[in-house]
Amino acid sequence: MKALILYFSGTGNTRFIAKQIAADLEELQCETMLYSIEDAPKIEPDSYDLLVLGSPKYFEYPVFFFLDYLKENLPCSSKPVPTMMYCTQASPLMTDFTKVKKMLAAKNHNLIIGKSLPVANNFLIFKSFEKTTPEKRKTNLEAALAECRQLSEKLVKGTPSEENIGKALAVADRAVAVLCNKLFPVFAMKYGAGESCIGCGLCAKKCPKNNIKMANGRPEFGKSCIFCTRCVNNCPVHAITYHNQTCEQYHMIEKI
Ligand SMILES: Cc1cc2nc3c(=O)[nH]c(=O)nc-3n(C[C@H](O)[C@H](O)[C@H](O)COP(=O)(O)O)c2cc1C
Ligand code: SF4
Ligand code: SF4
Repeated sequence: MKALILYFSGTGNTRFIAKQIAADLEELQCETMLYSIEDAPKIEPDSYDLLVLGSPKYFEYPVFFFLDYLKENLPCSSKPVPTMMYCTQASPLMTDFTKVKKMLAAKNHNLIIGKSLPVANNFLIFKSFEKTTPEKRKTNLEAALAECRQLSEKLVKGTPSEENIGKALAVADRAVAVLCNKLFPVFAMKYGAGESCIGCGLCAKKCPKNNIKMANGRPEFGKSCIFCTRCVNNCPVHAITYHNQTCEQYHMIEKI
């Protein structure tokens, strides 16, 4: 059996889980292909039997950038493909996967598992989003890793496991996500680089949206930001600012 795993990860949480699921599926005798959507090759139809999709949750919804990639690049399969999607996130709230399920069904991919996995909050720019304590992050990670194994087994066996947040909340979550995705680029215009910037260009190189251009050795931020915060977290000298305030970096799991 062949499994394809596609994910987007701004700061590593979703990648960490994707790697764990890959390891679990390999143990379950699945040959596994693991790609970030930023460097995935062209996906050939019928080249896999199972599909796993991983995305962070932004404003209570899977990342639109990831969903747009799937709409454009996921091929239509000739046989139904059992599919699982997980979201890594800060909170324990469930996710509405109904629209994603519909989009996948049109490509003959059957979303049998939808799962929200609390890990840690990487969005430290807006202080209203509570920082996850190291203790909480540890217990979240332990629970998520155990969950990965169970989810992988369910996927291989074809056992459905779906989250249901109810219609009213689903409509509200979607509306908030659409609005926030429209506002992101406006908010992102407030990014900048402080005096300590050494002009290394790493932020520009890492940005998944090519939203940063280097001009005269300084980063300039454009209008297509998705607020993934990768630029903030990869700057070697903590130079990136928001509203002229230095942005706190998130301690990425893989670096700990
Ligand atoms: C712009 C933005 C919005 C977010 N909104 C939510 C949210 O609504 N609910 C939540 O639980 N976590 C939210 N988070 C936290 C992330 O979903 C969480 O840290 C995720 O695991 C990050 O994954 P990554 O490291 O793979 O990018 C948000 C993060 C960002 C950057
Ligand atoms: S500018 Fe920064 S936060 Fe915005 S998309 Fe690029 S890396 Fe992500
Ligand atoms: S990564 Fe930091 S130091 Fe390098 S160009 Fe960007 S802001 Fe400047």
